[in-house]
Amino acid sequence: MYMLEQIVSNFRHNGTYASGAPYGSGHINDTFKIDTKETDQYNYILQRVNHHVFKDVPGLMENVERVTSHIRKKIEANPDSNPDREVLTVIPTHNNSSYHVDSDGNFWRMYIFIWDNKSYDVVDSPEKAFEGGRMFGQFQSQLADLPGKPLNDTIPNFHNIAWRLDTFMDTLKRNPVGRADLVKEEIDFVLARAEEMKTILRLGEAGEIPLRITHNDTKFNNVLLNQEDKGLCVIDLDTVMPGYVHYDFGDSIRTSTNTGAEDDPDLDKIEMDIHLFEGYTKGFLHETKDTLNQVEIDHLAFAGKLFPYMIGLRFITDYVDGDNYFKVHHEHHNLQRARAQFKLLTSMERQFEAMKEIVRKYAGGRDAKT
Ligand SMILES: Nc1ncnc2c1ncn2[C@@H]1O[C@H](COP(=O)(O)OP(=O)(O)O)[C@@H](O)[C@H]1O
Ligand SMILES: [Mg+2]
Repeated sequence: MYMLEQIVSNFRHNGTYASGAPYGSGHINDTFKIDTKETDQYNYILQRVNHHVFKDVPGLMENVERVTSHIRKKIEANPDSNPDREVLTVIPTHNNSSYHVDSDGNFWRMYIFIWDNKSYDVVDSPEKAFEGGRMFGQFQSQLADLPGKPLNDTIPNFHNIAWRLDTFMDTLKRNPVGRADLVKEEIDFVLARAEEMKTILRLGEAGEIPLRITHNDTKFNNVLLNQEDKGLCVIDLDTVMPGYVHYDFGDSIRTSTNTGAEDDPDLDKIEMDIHLFEGYTKGFLHETKDTLNQVEIDHLAFAGKLFPYMIGLRFITDYVDGDNYFKVHHEHHNLQRARAQFKLLTSMERQFEAMKEIVRKYAGGRDAKT
């Protein structure tokens, strides 16, 4: 157990500590809600940042400070808005740092608790999908003019599919636990699509699509909604770093449109729901169609396919490696997860023409900036 009150005392917050307890369903950081005694003072979120996943927490927090203060200025320019609720507010320590390091080397940070929020793990309507798309699209356009040097890479090669493929091939060669023979079909599936899946990287290298600032973890529960189910705030900024717009769009489509579970053992339950795809795409392009170039737009539907491929590849790699990265709940869990992701990909392949048509529909009437 952590001495929460003692940790909190390092931060320059308002109000008096009343209680602290684990909060939320995130599984990267340790998150606590801190309540204050006074009813007219904010409550807070206290987080222990996972420094095994994020090796450079100071660099990560520098990103978070730059990103949140830039967005805050934009929100403050709108008199109808409430910056303390619409962007994360970093509470500084008494030494004016954005994080506190305890005597065990743990990194802690504190945010204002965004009150009256709703958050969902699963998207169950096109209206909610629209709000997710609108919020991540708005996040993208709010950061399009962030001044200064590029953000720090908080996890190098995170969405680098060429690197993920190399890692897979190396792991197969090493075959440390003798599972390579069990995944012959999956190997064929991966190799048949390997060149296609490097499309975004090739376009980036050719200068046809720009590196932007992307969130890189665009699950629906990383958007808080208000009581009316309208988008309120994008949270979980640990992986905000340079990336292609396809990374944000693609991972949202993977996580928000699946009719089954991410690891569903029943592959018949897994399809991409085209109505949820349409809702998300409508919201995302509503915010971004005037800043994205034509090549970026032309590859948004493809980005949908890239993510079940990439995450499926990571699951199968971890399976062959002996389950060292993802927590597993039974022996072949990573294989089951990979199969579920590849089923989602084939569902998208089947619906690809319809996906492209939807992107064209909502990108229409934009000011081409190419
Ligand atoms: N500022 C905040 N206000 C209210 N709830 C928050 C805030 N920050 C995080 N949360 C809640 O805590 C959960 C975990 O936080 P998150 O930063 O997403 O961590 P993880 O990386 O572990 O997913 C979120 O899903 C959300 O429910
Ligand atoms: Mg989260």
